[in-house]
Amino acid sequence: MKYIAFFETTKQEEHFLRKKFGKGVSVQFFPEKIQDVPVQKFAKTDAISVFIYSVVTKELFAKLKNLKLIATRSTGFNHIDVKNAAKRGITVMNVPYYGENTVAEHTFALILSLSRNIHKAYVRTLRNDFSLAGLQGFDLKGKTLGVIGGGSIGLHVIKMARGFGLKVLVYDVRQNHFLAETLDFSYVPLTDLLQHSDIISLHCPLNEQTHHLLNIENIKQVKKGALFINTARGDLIEARALHYALNNGIFAGAGLDVFEGEELVKEENQMLTRNVPVEKLQALLQKSILLRMENVIITPHMAFDSVEAVERILQTTVDNIVAFEHGAPKYVVKG
Ligand code: NAI
Repeated sequence: MKYIAFFETTKQEEHFLRKKFGKGVSVQFFPEKIQDVPVQKFAKTDAISVFIYSVVTKELFAKLKNLKLIATRSTGFNHIDVKNAAKRGITVMNVPYYGENTVAEHTFALILSLSRNIHKAYVRTLRNDFSLAGLQGFDLKGKTLGVIGGGSIGLHVIKMARGFGLKVLVYDVRQNHFLAETLDFSYVPLTDLLQHSDIISLHCPLNEQTHHLLNIENIKQVKKGALFINTARGDLIEARALHYALNNGIFAGAGLDVFEGEELVKEENQMLTRNVPVEKLQALLQKSILLRMENVIITPHMAFDSVEAVERILQTTVDNIVAFEHGAPKYVVKG
């Protein structure tokens, strides 16, 4: 690799990555998403590395004649046109295992915040109000957690759930009965999971099959008063179904690290640095009804973001680039 361009990098990430490449390699860093950087600035590049807000399209491949490798610094790769990359002989690599425990821990941060009303208590005590009214929570022990997607992250969530004394139901298109027996959970059809879970947590990838996996039709099957947790991808649940469920008591609360249209909010946040009047920013944010619901906790797609996990992401990305150069790429993704 002679030219490598990294997008969506912070200063700390740049500092870490710069040290990993020798003098013969030209490494460029752009804090912006790839679609926000003029292509001529990185036209010679033979490898690019992006995070999840960069949209990597076939139109871009046509402009980057030397491109051989896309190394996404994420597990999910739905932001990359993998099929067309393959047609052009471009390899796509991801970081499949950096943060199973990290995302699972954030999942439980959201579950526990909702089950014990931590978010409401925090706001109240800031106002010097130490009353208990309306803050009573519920025990996790003895309740049922429904995990949709029992892969790397899902399995960590299941292990933690068993520690809390939760019963676990799993819906997955692939099943591992040895793990089900060892960790003491049951695979069930999606309908059964929706009907019997007190907490539903999403951990499957976003793809053509899973887009709007939860929708306005099947949302009505959910056990009334369940908690909904999404640390996977926003588009797994139809926004209209999420609003319907929250407005009609189907979901008693939601913990969302991701939600449909989160990229727009992200852009609004970035406007802070572009001298946009605060009133405009507030007006934009208020648009989002979800932000105004007191039984909804939103975190800004940060489930992956622990010191340890980010280091693992960067190191694996470097390893991916080196392995590709040596003709032994390990974490290649297929469309
Ligand atoms: P994984 O590939 O190990 O597990 C995904 C599981 O979902 C697999 O068991 C798979 O069989 C299952 N699955 C696939 N299609 C399905 C379908 N149609 N219905 C039900 N299950 C299906 O992936 P991993 O590492 O557990 O990550 C899951 C997702 O979490 C990623 O795809 C990514 O979108 C998201 N993620 C979010 C992060 C965040 O910061 N919020 C960080 C890392 C991942």
